[in-house]
Amino acid sequence: MKFKDHNYQQLTAKEESIHAPFKKQSKVQIVSRIVVIALGLTVLATSFSRLTIKLFGSPELTKDELISHYLNTLETNLASNWSYAYSRDNQLAGTNLELVKWAQAQYQSFGLDSEIDEYTALVSYPIDQSISLIGNDITRNGSYSKVIYKPSLKEDIIEEDPTSKIQVPAFLGYAKSGNVTAQFIYANYGTKKDFEKLVELGVSLKGKIAIIRYGSIFRGLKIKFAQDHGIAAVLLYSDPYDDGEIVPQNGYKTYPHGFARNPSALQRGSAQFLSFGPGDPSTPGYAIKPGEEEKLGINRTDPSFSIPSIPALPISYREVTPILKTLNGYGAQIPEWQDNHGLIENFDYSMMLSLLETIMILGFQQQVIHIQALLW
Ligand SMILES: *[C@@H]1O[C@H](CO)[C@@H](O)[C@H](O)[C@H]1NC(C)=O
Ligand SMILES: *[C@@H]1O[C@H](CO)[C@@H](O)[C@H](O)[C@H]1NC(C)=O
Ligand SMILES: *[C@@H]1O[C@H](CO)[C@@H](O)[C@H](O)[C@H]1NC(C)=O
Ligand SMILES: *[C@@H]1O[C@H](CO)[C@@H](O)[C@H](O)[C@H]1NC(C)=O
Repeated sequence: MKFKDHNYQQLTAKEESIHAPFKKQSKVQIVSRIVVIALGLTVLATSFSRLTIKLFGSPELTKDELISHYLNTLETNLASNWSYAYSRDNQLAGTNLELVKWAQAQYQSFGLDSEIDEYTALVSYPIDQSISLIGNDITRNGSYSKVIYKPSLKEDIIEEDPTSKIQVPAFLGYAKSGNVTAQFIYANYGTKKDFEKLVELGVSLKGKIAIIRYGSIFRGLKIKFAQDHGIAAVLLYSDPYDDGEIVPQNGYKTYPHGFARNPSALQRGSAQFLSFGPGDPSTPGYAIKPGEEEKLGINRTDPSFSIPSIPALPISYREVTPILKTLNGYGAQIPEWQDNHGLIENFDYSMMLSLLETIMILGFQQQVIHIQALLW
């Protein structure tokens, strides 16, 4: 795919023609030119700062004008074309050198020096994952247990969007492999404060599965706070509430028919505890190139300080709904959480199960592999 209309040669030629007039000139000519250029720059800077003030400082610009300026900028920069170019293919770390080479070719076509560097880093890949909602009647000593619902953990294949055929399985990089069958609770955004609230209300968290919505803080930290409270596994879902105004409840159609989130969309990404150390968790603060480990006698660090010690999976709002609904009426609805009451239909945002009733449990199974991979 190509959407550039110039190449390196053309750019070089243009640069030469810019510099050419300076070659044979008197000092006076040069000075006067510099003055003209300086004046030009001053005018440019002034008008730019006026625009800047208009954009950021002055009440003259309405919200709609600001939005339209912003969108025009994206259009001028071909943001949608670039976004398409990078998302049309698999982007799983360490698996698509072709895309890297393509990006390099783009930089080169703009006349920029570009090299592809190689590093060996700890990366995780999904192998297998599943979730089952299990009905478990404790009044019969657990003798009755039956899978009531099994989400696919897959996004819809959308005819209008061929890129939807490329599906990386639902997974969160650096989450741990594990099989957990346990009761589950709803833990809002999974912030420190949210977990403290649950503790304050006497909710037992040890060994439970926490269903947490995306938003507010980085996903890895949600998992960290969960594991710090003894949670055994985490299920992260995208609540349409956190998409702001662009929701079906406001009349927006869902993708691909409109801008609202597709109900099957699930958010993958790294589960690393970013604020404890970004980058390769086995080489905190530095990076290793192929062969350096042996040559320089570098020992990789135990990564557990910055990656989860529990399994965690993402799920779509469509598929989490039947699971969350089973919590209706059980446990408190926390007043502080009601400000951000989500938009999952038929879920009252109760947080926990009552042990006295027939209980639902979640079977949570995840297998990932953590390996040293070559990254570019
Ligand atoms: C950007 O993408 C649009 C939509 O696919 C296309 O019509 C347009 O030609 C592209 N622009 C460039 C400069 O390639
Ligand atoms: C449950 O198990 C206990 C001990 O194993 C037994 O005494 C009791 O009768 C069982 N109850 C039912 C409803 O099966
Ligand atoms: C989880 O269960 C699956 C299927 O029974 C099994 O293949 C896998 O090894 C288990 N994983 C762990 C980490 O126990
Ligand atoms: C790496 O580990 C080996 C074996 O435990 C040890 O001999 C060596 O000194 C360590 N190297 C560094 C740089 O810590």
